[in-house]
Amino acid sequence: MAHTTDSPRPGGEQPAPWLLEVQNLTKSFGGLRAVDHCSFRVERGTITGLIGPNGAGKTTVFNLITGFIAPDSGRIVLDGQDIGRMRPDQIFARGLCRTFQIPREHGTMSVLENLLLVPPNQAGEHWWRALCGGRQLRNEEAHNLAKAREVLEYLQLTHVQNEYAGNLSGGQKKLLELGRTLMADPKIILLDEPAAGVNRTLLQSIVSNIRYLSRERGITFLLIEHDMNMVMSLCDPVIVMSEGRKLAEGKPEIVRNDKAVLEAYLGGQYATAEG
Ligand SMILES: Nc1ncnc2c1ncn2[C@@H]1O[C@H](COP(=O)(O)OP(=O)(O)OP(=O)(O)O)[C@@H](O)[C@H]1O
Ligand SMILES: [Mg+2]
Repeated sequence: MAHTTDSPRPGGEQPAPWLLEVQNLTKSFGGLRAVDHCSFRVERGTITGLIGPNGAGKTTVFNLITGFIAPDSGRIVLDGQDIGRMRPDQIFARGLCRTFQIPREHGTMSVLENLLLVPPNQAGEHWWRALCGGRQLRNEEAHNLAKAREVLEYLQLTHVQNEYAGNLSGGQKKLLELGRTLMADPKIILLDEPAAGVNRTLLQSIVSNIRYLSRERGITFLLIEHDMNMVMSLCDPVIVMSEGRKLAEGKPEIVRNDKAVLEAYLGGQYATAEG
């Protein structure tokens, strides 16, 4: 299901260990500099955490990486290619998918239909389709349907497949968001607060899904989360943002005891829990 991201390049050149790189990324809204010369890298195969206090600029970084907003300056490189000025659909087609902090389901369509709406993004599929012509379309539809059913079963949403997506619980909507990214055969998934508003059981299921997809399908994850238990158990490394910049980066147990990080969170849940 996943792309092979570590195949040798022409000429035998090995790809860089990082799949995604942002360099000096900057974005202002009026007088407010939401992202301020932010630089970091996401290594292939990792589940990298992106944490930081409210308003640190995390979601804005996701919006920049995914092409939803244009950076004022800086570079964004995905798998060796500069994607900084590409449209969201072009970035998506290169294997980068995201979920939203607030789920964006199509409420008046069924859960299954929501999955079938996702366009495939595999390179090569376009010429394959052109060659095969309309004759093969039914097969392709059958393939998509089978894939959607597999994703539903995997996320334990089969029992609500014909339900309007708008009627799902908050946690189920989060799972559906994850499901939509899986339909696209992504190289890397950006998750914006996957645990928010999700009960303990569903949370366990999201965590084990991410672990499985990372381990078995080779998908790389960049994950924004305020739930520190989830970050500490799932992510390595963890990148900390504060006031639009990268403040710290490292193994979760190192980052959690970093003085500057604790100060950035001062008054927040984390500092209280530690203190
Ligand atoms: N479209 C926008 N227009 C104006 N200001 C914005 C816009 N998007 C974000 N901001 C501002 O940029 C700053 C960073 O916001 P952002 O949503 O990136 O933070 P965040 O780290 O994701 O926070 P949270 O953890 O609360 O989700 C905030 O001060 C926010 O108000
Ligand atoms: Mg946010």
